[in-house]
Amino acid sequence: MVHIANPILKNGELEGIKEVMDSGMLAQGEVVAKFEEEFADYLDVGFGKATANGTAALDVALKAIGVEEGDEVITSPFSFIASANCVLFQGAEPVFADVKKDTFNLDPEKVKEKITSDTKAILPVHLFGQPAEMNAFMDMAEDHDLYVVEDCAQAHGAEYDGKKVGSIGDIGAFSFYPTKNMTTGEGGIVVSDSEELCERADLVRDHGQSEKYTHDMLGYNLRMTNLAAAIGRAQLERLDEWNDKRRKNAEMLTAGIEKIDGLTPPAVSDSVKHVFHQYVLKVEDDHPLRREELREKLHENDIGTAVHYPKVIPDQPLYREKGYDGNEFKNARGCAEKVFSLPIHPKVSKEDIEVMLKVMEV
Ligand SMILES: Cc1ncc(COP(=O)(O)O)c(C=O)c1O
Repeated sequence: MVHIANPILKNGELEGIKEVMDSGMLAQGEVVAKFEEEFADYLDVGFGKATANGTAALDVALKAIGVEEGDEVITSPFSFIASANCVLFQGAEPVFADVKKDTFNLDPEKVKEKITSDTKAILPVHLFGQPAEMNAFMDMAEDHDLYVVEDCAQAHGAEYDGKKVGSIGDIGAFSFYPTKNMTTGEGGIVVSDSEELCERADLVRDHGQSEKYTHDMLGYNLRMTNLAAAIGRAQLERLDEWNDKRRKNAEMLTAGIEKIDGLTPPAVSDSVKHVFHQYVLKVEDDHPLRREELREKLHENDIGTAVHYPKVIPDQPLYREKGYDGNEFKNARGCAEKVFSLPIHPKVSKEDIEVMLKVMEV
């Protein structure tokens, strides 16, 4: 079976874990500090503060910029739920703006319409590994005195205008969940060029502790372990190589899918380096098979697929209960109805792609 995700864990991960075990220092310590430094250097950003997972990284990032009750944060309705829930965690209001149907990313024009005097931040998601339109969001933020928080959970190593995502906005958050382009098991990191924001992030993730048993503010324990960081250090070494393989696989898939009527391959914007966390295509109405029939056919041929995402966030029960409604977000809803993801990770071979294309040629 070609699974939709399949992490490679045979670099220096075991040796790194063994060193941590031998040291006896399992929780956050020097290995986490080294990982933070290496990851920040990789992005060319000033600081990194590792967290227990990507959701925690987003939560910590919003607390670091001071989002609170009464504030609004504009984000995408077409993403994993954490992109919006991190706003709810602050008692603030997620405000959704529609996406572009070709790139799946936030439409700057729609975002502009949502800015009010209560807007505190714009939170673009670099969905499926494709950078959002950062220049437009940075300009808007400057005009309206807003923060830009990048949700980079799916875009390790992706670039916009030659800059790595996470290094463009005021603060960025990554996830290292095992399906991601690199993993630490569970894990995340907050990155920023602002020392002040990173110091706040550091406090939030560790009980607001500025010195041993001196607590300046309310915080949690959202720390990463040395064990997780040891895995991350080994993974980071091969991230670029894996991203190149993802891009090659995507090129091959797109060349084939373009020839199949009724299927639309994912669009790649100009001036971005897409890292294809997911390869997301659309089954159009003129395709002879419905999405679920096509997925079933692929599964019968040992090709795993997934739907990222079957529902827009405002249509989730949690949000419906709060009075949200996905009806306004026509492009996002349209994507949710048509998309599915094919395996694209570095273990996917040319032969696997040939099987996928053959199965989809109805
Ligand atoms: C866009 C996005 N944001 C945030 C997260 C949260 O990361 P984690 O699962 O590590 O908490 C994810 C994880 O799937 C994600 O895809």
